[in-house]
Amino acid sequence: MDKNIQKNILITGGAGFIGSHVVRRFITLNSNYNVFNLDALTYAGNLENLKDVERAPNYEFIKGDITKTDFINEFFSKHSFDGVIHLAAESHVDRSITDPLSFVRTNILGTVNLLNASLQQFENNPNFLFYHISTDEVYGSLGEKGLFKETTSYDPNSPYSASKASSDHFVRAYGETYKLPFVISNCSNNYGPNQFPEKLIPLFINNIIQNKPLPVYGDGNYTRDWLYVKDHAKAIELIFHKGKKGETYNIGGLNEWKNIDLTHLLCRLMDKKLKRTLGTSEKLISFVKDRPGHDLRYAIDASKIKKELGWKPSVTFEEGLEQTIDWYFDNKEWLDNVTSKDYLEYYKNQYQE
Ligand code: NAD
Ligand code: TYD
Repeated sequence: MDKNIQKNILITGGAGFIGSHVVRRFITLNSNYNVFNLDALTYAGNLENLKDVERAPNYEFIKGDITKTDFINEFFSKHSFDGVIHLAAESHVDRSITDPLSFVRTNILGTVNLLNASLQQFENNPNFLFYHISTDEVYGSLGEKGLFKETTSYDPNSPYSASKASSDHFVRAYGETYKLPFVISNCSNNYGPNQFPEKLIPLFINNIIQNKPLPVYGDGNYTRDWLYVKDHAKAIELIFHKGKKGETYNIGGLNEWKNIDLTHLLCRLMDKKLKRTLGTSEKLISFVKDRPGHDLRYAIDASKIKKELGWKPSVTFEEGLEQTIDWYFDNKEWLDNVTSKDYLEYYKNQYQE
């Protein structure tokens, strides 16, 4: 670490999908920060995601689990942080349905551990900020019309969204009770490089490459608002520096797609990329049993962050998807590794502990 740098920032979950983009952004664009990346390296965390910046003088990786209270307290007692950007989480809805307790442990207990440890940081530094990265899924499901606003009531439906709603509430409660300075952002579905191939877009890209079925849940008429991950990372940096303390910001792409339409689009783009006859990949579409408690529609009203902080998405969906597809093709080794039997078996055993 660079001893001449005065500001220290802790990013949790920095080896994951979104976290890796946030870490890279802070290392490369904010040379006035030492960036500490704390991550347990679960199946979703991968140091390959940060290979290009791992030797930066203002970067340090620490392998550690936020659910371990003693470890977190000791780690915080040895450092002075100006801010914590907290992304570490269990993040996949389907896993939360089969194993809700892991989500309670990491997303709730882990967040409260970080909040408790942050109180001491705040006592030593009144400018300390705790920034919680959250999801629009805490608002529950929209019908055919309307958008989630910052004032929309919480109404989570999945164990994942219930755990994120709970951690949001704890962050706000620490703000009220202990005056811990905080900010929260709730973002829509992200896509882009480094995403573990269990979420819709990378799973379908990988399955098309492998000629495997594309499992569309139910009738496919579920809607998500997709945002390119680098635009999310940009919003996070902006909120960390300019967001008003104690506020929530919604982040979204104004880019709604029904799953089935998105699947057709992906099939067309992949046929082009693989130089297959148009229509080849569509034959892989398979309608399967619906996800229990499946939220019909998410869509974000991002006017607050636009108006107050001047943020807007910079990448169109077409550009973002093409860049994403290119990334998975250019990083076949990454994809083969994280989908290999050994990798999945290893984490399956850890997961069931
Ligand atoms: P991810 O699953 O790709 O990465 C999560 C990271 O957290 C991994 O690196 C993992 O190793 C780490 N981690 C998990 N448990 C840990 C523990 N106990 N201790 C330390 N590290 C641990 O997730 P993501 O998609 O990058 O999401 C990051 C954050 O953004 C999450 O809080 C998620 O709820 C939120 N979010 C995600 C999306 C999305 O579309 N992916 C949208 C909105 C908000
Ligand atoms: P996902 O990427 O898991 O994100 P989230 O559940 O957090 O929105 O799923 C996006 C949408 O795609 C969601 O409506 C569920 C659906 N889906 C499928 O139809 N098939 C799949 O195999 C997956 C993973 C998701």
